Amino acid sequence: MEYRELIIQAVAAKESAYAPYSKFRVGAALLTKSGRIFTGCNIENVSFSATNCAERTAVFKAVSEGEREFEAIVITGDNYDYLAPCGICRQVLAEFCDFDTFSVILANDQEDYRVMTLGELLPGPFRKENLKPGRF
Ligand code: THU
Repeated sequence: MEYRELIIQAVAAKESAYAPYSKFRVGAALLTKSGRIFTGCNIENVSFSATNCAERTAVFKAVSEGEREFEAIVITGDNYDYLAPCGICRQVLAEFCDFDTFSVILANDQEDYRVMTLGELLPGPFRKENLKPGRF
């Protein structure tokens, strides 16, 4: 899989980051199975817990446009080596993405990136199946 275009778009999305508190800008680009790309940036808030990460911005934009099946996401951050998604973003990705085939690309730039599966990033997840009546 060629991630070049996705990385270019994630880097560009970082420019829209609203990060006056951390000064740490993050960009993401999410590829749907239908071939569309949705970008996202982090959007901070003076009430810090209201902050939205770049990855979730991209997922929420895509889902709100009718997309629910995803192929890959690129994440890129300011001055950070292979920025990995936070725990909340991993859980949000897990709602829609396959653990074995969905690729999370941690990109420093177009030539320098690491590819991980969602399953590697979120072992032992809380899944939809866990909501079914069980043995307890
Ligand atoms: N952030 C993201 O956007 N994605 C991540 O994967 C890690 C953290 C943002 C949230 C906050 O605006 C800033 O980075 C510092 O935590």
